[in-house]
Amino acid sequence: MCGIVGYIGSKSVIPILINGLSKLEYRGYDSAGVAVYKGGEIETYKAQGKLQKLKDLLGTNGNGDNANKIGIGHIRWATHGAPTEINAHPHVSCCKKIAIVHNGIIENFKELKEELTKKGHVFVSQTDTETIAHLIEENLKTHPDIFDAVRHSLKKLEGAYAIGVVYKDNPDILIAARKNAPLIVGIGENENYIGSDVPAILEYTKNVIYLDDSEIAEIKADDVKIYDFDGNVIKKKIECVPWEPVALSKMGYKHFMLKEIHEQPDVIRQTLSERLISSDLPLQLNEVKLTKESLKKLNRIQIIACGTSLHAAMAGKYLIEEFIGIPVDIEASSEYIYKRTISSANSLVIGVSQSGETADTITAIRQAKAEGAHALVITNRVDSTMAREADSLLPINAGIEVSVAATKSYTAQLIAFYLLAIYLAEIKEALPAKDIIKFKEQLFKLPQQVEIILGNKTEIKRCARKFHNAKDFIFIARGINFPAALEGALKLKEISYINATGYPAGELKHGPIAMLEDTIPVLAILMPGLVYEKVLSNSEEAKARDAKMIALTSSNDKHLESVFDFIIKIPDIDEIFSPILTTIPLQLLAYYIAEFLGKDVDQPRNLAKSVTVE
Ligand code: G6P
Repeated sequence: MCGIVGYIGSKSVIPILINGLSKLEYRGYDSAGVAVYKGGEIETYKAQGKLQKLKDLLGTNGNGDNANKIGIGHIRWATHGAPTEINAHPHVSCCKKIAIVHNGIIENFKELKEELTKKGHVFVSQTDTETIAHLIEENLKTHPDIFDAVRHSLKKLEGAYAIGVVYKDNPDILIAARKNAPLIVGIGENENYIGSDVPAILEYTKNVIYLDDSEIAEIKADDVKIYDFDGNVIKKKIECVPWEPVALSKMGYKHFMLKEIHEQPDVIRQTLSERLISSDLPLQLNEVKLTKESLKKLNRIQIIACGTSLHAAMAGKYLIEEFIGIPVDIEASSEYIYKRTISSANSLVIGVSQSGETADTITAIRQAKAEGAHALVITNRVDSTMAREADSLLPINAGIEVSVAATKSYTAQLIAFYLLAIYLAEIKEALPAKDIIKFKEQLFKLPQQVEIILGNKTEIKRCARKFHNAKDFIFIARGINFPAALEGALKLKEISYINATGYPAGELKHGPIAMLEDTIPVLAILMPGLVYEKVLSNSEEAKARDAKMIALTSSNDKHLESVFDFIIKIPDIDEIFSPILTTIPLQLLAYYIAEFLGKDVDQPRNLAKSVTVE
């Protein structure tokens, strides 16, 4: 949510900032801006709308200008103040000597603004961020060194922030700080960078310092020093990120989303590799630190997550309860954090997050840990705040996910839950050995089965063509596929803006059935197993109300043709593993519908991939 980039060195800075921002577009895209040191002044350029608008504004401006050697850039997802040019970052102080970019929310900005206004500061935007620029300017009166002025200002801020600051009177120093919002420092040769995330700087350096909360960096072209807010030096590790810049290219696909959907067979292999070695050997989840003894004491498992990760969590609940018989509660992180935390030393709290930076989930995990719970984090980012604060870690190895709509990370999260549930069953000896072997054999087969679905895209595209003009869409399922119905609806909503809802099929007649008429498609996930007949009956009920019926099934039952207007076939699979296969056609369906409607698939309106504010 909001992307920050910064550079200090001897290269032309604007192209570096723009390139960095283009890699952070997934974090927000309602306006963008840069501030560079040019001709002895701090010049800012801002534009409302997508990054392209800023590129158009800049034109070739600055492209060959080697005098610009320090600058900061920002891509915004509006919180305070509409997404206008005035509210776009960077924000400057009254004297225009200080420019600042910020990600997060300053909770006490109203009080600070009032105080600063009384002292004569004039605000031009509606943002909380501008307060920081004025506060630094005010503090310069008593702390003439810009680094000290920034450091003292930070002590007055409440809320979450990652910031980058440049100062006209000292263009040899770039200042960065964080508290509850991610920020990294990229280390180059006689040049250094800041970024909200690794992709922003990956083309230039793989060596990074991850700032922790309440740390401030004093960055020069040839030196980086990190301090706490009291000014004490902190020794930090320089870490080498394991990614290649090619991970950020579309590789010939029209959209990142389509590329990422196609990566899923490999992602599954990757998530399984080194953990599932053979069906008759125990799973190797080396960073999960739960012993037989600690499991014995467990009386509560809670899974907390947001968005798509919350749907993976729901499937996880089903699996853990089924395999080890311990009750599991699921909660949206944003709900978990504003009530009494009922976790204890006998609780296991599982946080699920693609980014590992979702503010609500971080807070929820911290609250649970404060009550003594063991925190296990399932994440795609081992370099994230959540991963670093976790007691146990289960990385999902999905690779960088660029498209705002999560696809491959969801599938990888599901795989992680299969691994975890089987692993817990092994430790607790909760399942017969032959069942565990059978489950592992099924896991090995998954990538190939997903490949079959991806090879069958034409049918799904045909279905999308047929129904892309629908105004409402209903997804129904039961049991382990209910989260897949929710996720299918969420994908469609996110990228096509069609009003799509997922229901447990049995709930249809308790209200939603009132909506049904012949313009509404109802997609039923109908996998042979425990609930097949039930979902079929629920589908008949919808059919009787004239809904347009779509089946997603592996069944060859001829009777389906009389109930359904469209049948999407997927390979046969044990019901409990079927969410991996039912999810993929729903991702493709959403993708093709959005494509037919001409929507911006990778950057849907109003969304951001990483939500780093509460
Ligand atoms: C945002 C994204 C979703 C994502 C959710 C949780 O809303 O748009 O795709 O599922 O955040 O993110 P996380 O990184 O914690 O999985």
